[in-house]
Amino acid sequence: MTRVQLEKVSKVYPGGDEPAVADFTLEIPSGRLVAFLGPSGCGKTTTLKMIAGLIHPSAGRIFFDGEDILPIPAEKRGAVMVFQNYLLFPYMSVGDNVGFGLKMRGVKKQVIAEKVAEMLALVKLPDIAKRRPTQLSGGQQQRVALARALITEPRVLLLDEPLSNLDAHLRDEMRDLILSIQRELAVTTVFVTHDQEEAVLLADQIALMFDGLLMQYASPSEFYQRPISERVARFFGGLNFIPAQRSDGLVRTGIGDFHFDAAHDEQAPSGNTVLTIRPEQIRLNEATEVNSAAGRVRERIYVGKYTRYKIALGEVEVEAVSSAELPDALGVGDEVRVHFPPDRIWVVPA
Ligand SMILES: Nc1ncnc2c1ncn2[C@@H]1O[C@H](COP(=O)(O)OP(=O)(O)O)[C@@H](O)[C@H]1O
Ligand SMILES: [Mg+2]
Repeated sequence: MTRVQLEKVSKVYPGGDEPAVADFTLEIPSGRLVAFLGPSGCGKTTTLKMIAGLIHPSAGRIFFDGEDILPIPAEKRGAVMVFQNYLLFPYMSVGDNVGFGLKMRGVKKQVIAEKVAEMLALVKLPDIAKRRPTQLSGGQQQRVALARALITEPRVLLLDEPLSNLDAHLRDEMRDLILSIQRELAVTTVFVTHDQEEAVLLADQIALMFDGLLMQYASPSEFYQRPISERVARFFGGLNFIPAQRSDGLVRTGIGDFHFDAAHDEQAPSGNTVLTIRPEQIRLNEATEVNSAAGRVRERIYVGKYTRYKIALGEVEVEAVSSAELPDALGVGDEVRVHFPPDRIWVVPA
């Protein structure tokens, strides 16, 4: 198990004006799965390649267990990368693909064969060692690529959007497989994705990147409850943003004042802020008047499992969901009291 640290890592490609990655600092605890999440072009693959040793940073340092690994060439780092498009050797059998890393190290044939069988069983693909990659489905090829990476017992496993070429049900299956293998082997893993849900389902910690910069590094639930900015909150599906003034435990807005439980949290900004609350955290027509505001239903969208409401609160509109369709469900035009639980509201800088 290996702890990975990046310290002010930057990459400027030749001819590039803006750095592809700038001042990237983070620590990946040993044996954990961290997701690099962000829109296309934000620098995820570049960062992964710098950890793998496939490209060299323009500045900064990278450590494995405290050791500076930048002078160490890719093949000796013990970090292996699995690419989005698998990159299997088409003219080699599946078995030879998987065993390739061991063959390069001069491991005996018999030992390689045993290890290959073990790896193919691990990725739940027994009995296909003799086939060619072209005879496999995309999902199977991705598993072979994973087996090929794992056979060398890497210190660090780097997965670059491994699910994005798979269709929906295969994606779920492969995601669960990756998670169970990662937990079983406890190999330090970086999983790159642009899909927020995928990151949340898989990762112990998420590193959210925009424009080459690390925006927030936190657990999945912190991204929902403690986003660092409105942009981060919106990336995670946040919809409700109300201009506010916060002083200590009170958040003042145009639709009323709200008590704020997380006032002691150092991440919560003061003064000119924006109150945010997730649609599923808003309660409708609670008995209490505290932390509530009067509004009117403007739109009602039945989604099946739940109902979405757009609610006008004076000048402000918020979205709320109710988990079940109640017999006395709210209709468009109905008056409604929205309640923001003090432990569910959050503030971000204006
Ligand atoms: N080899 C390269 N030469 C020049 N620019 C590159 C190269 N690879 C990536 N870039 C640029 O660096 C930025 C980050 O790219 P990348 O790391 O591939 O992002 P992501 O994986 O998040 O989509 C993008 O603006 C991209 O165009
Ligand atoms: Mg990429």
